[in-house]
Amino acid sequence: MRTEIHVQQHEQIADIAPDIYGHFAEHLGRCVYGGLWVGDDDRVSTEDGIRLDTVDLLRDLDMPVLRWPGGCFADDYDWTDGIGPRKERPTRRNMFWTQGRRDLPEEPNTFGTDEFVRLCEMLDTEPYLAVNVGSGSPDDAADWVEYCNYGGGTELAERREENGSEDPHGVKYWGVGNENWGCGGRFSPEAYAEQYRRYATYLRGANGMLSERDMELIACGHIEGDWNREFLDALADCSEWVEGPYDLMEHMSVHRYYEAGGDTDFDDEDYYRLLARSRQVAADVDDLVEALSVYAPDNDISVIVDEWGVWHPEATNTNGLEQEHTVRDAISAAGVLDDLNARADVVSMANIAQTVNVLQCLVQTDETDAWPTPTYHVYDLYKPHMGATALDTVVDTETETVDDESFDVPLVSASASERDGDIYVTLSNRSLDDSDAVEVTLTDGDASVVGAETLFDGDAVDEYSTADNADAFAAEEIDVGDQGDGTFLVEAPASSVVGLTLRQ
Ligand code: AHR
Repeated sequence: MRTEIHVQQHEQIADIAPDIYGHFAEHLGRCVYGGLWVGDDDRVSTEDGIRLDTVDLLRDLDMPVLRWPGGCFADDYDWTDGIGPRKERPTRRNMFWTQGRRDLPEEPNTFGTDEFVRLCEMLDTEPYLAVNVGSGSPDDAADWVEYCNYGGGTELAERREENGSEDPHGVKYWGVGNENWGCGGRFSPEAYAEQYRRYATYLRGANGMLSERDMELIACGHIEGDWNREFLDALADCSEWVEGPYDLMEHMSVHRYYEAGGDTDFDDEDYYRLLARSRQVAADVDDLVEALSVYAPDNDISVIVDEWGVWHPEATNTNGLEQEHTVRDAISAAGVLDDLNARADVVSMANIAQTVNVLQCLVQTDETDAWPTPTYHVYDLYKPHMGATALDTVVDTETETVDDESFDVPLVSASASERDGDIYVTLSNRSLDDSDAVEVTLTDGDASVVGAETLFDGDAVDEYSTADNADAFAAEEIDVGDQGDGTFLVEAPASSVVGLTLRQ
């Protein structure tokens, strides 16, 4: 196989929002309890109840943003349950993730707003809160803003101070519910539009009155049918009386999960099918961008992929949505990140689901250890793209067709970005059988290779991470041939991911 990648240095797309490399953590299974928070459990080192082995791994990824507390959990969450002295916090049942299973654990509320913000501080990451629209009220949501963001002398601000945070948390991102077409209240697009206007008015009002930091509001979209268009249409229904309904949001979000075969039990066709389905993330973005350009052409509303990743059939609420994490999953994530880099002009955030132990997590834990998944290593390899300027990248490669799928699979996926004269190129050879002599060409000519690493060389695509093979999937250096005049030859092994730094 011979693929050509042309990096169009004069075709700058936009700066890649670091938040495209964001994360999502929900009160579900062992993501928060056990994965991030262990409280007084002294089998692992902790700081303020937060487990440090997980934090150390995540810190190395320069996590830009973390969305919390859900997910479906958010629309049944009373934030006041999770503040104040832990011994006094109520134990509740989580409506969504324990349905029909009385044996599953209750919600102890020992990890709440202040613990979450503390975790974000430890990770130097931006907190993103999703408010309860499904069963809550605009008043509760506005109170949460006041608790988090006000530095004055109101009762709620003083409660935060009593709870240990003198300075306001300054939370910038506020999601107006979660999947409100489904678990978040089963709203029609029209009904959600009405709720959205109401919530946004009070959230914005509270923040404008109280906070020194602007807030950014996120409306929940959907990936089905005309839901987004109907919502956007309905949002303006009141425009006769209210000016600028689209000013009430900075972002609109979609969620996309995909699967094919089992987590570790899949054949070659399933392998390519998963990659074909992963392309739907970019298609969802394009569709929402198109809808926004029709309804709100003069507003700068960007797209957030609030939740995305592989959700295998093995991950059910009975096992806390846990699944094995293979090289296949990681290769699919690399392709999605390339697609998102290429849409840097319209995508402002994307949060892989979920950070620890749940779904396509980056870190797994047991009682004593934490270790990275193959997908973790992809995020590590892609770090140089964060905040760099995305460059248009043309990939001339073969494709694999999968029956009954909307998309083919280009056998090489790639993206490129530029920062201070360094060009960073990521490319995945997704062929199961063939290595690829990939020719990478820079339009501006001469450059030198300052670094080249590969992931998964020699790993089978169904290999998965365990407590005992923590370093097995780490990047290895590779040689790259400099052909002169800005052309480089990368021998990319079958089913591998490469990161290449070129300096001009
Ligand atoms: O991530 C698991 C669940 O998937 C989330 O709670 C929900 O938003 C989505 O359906």
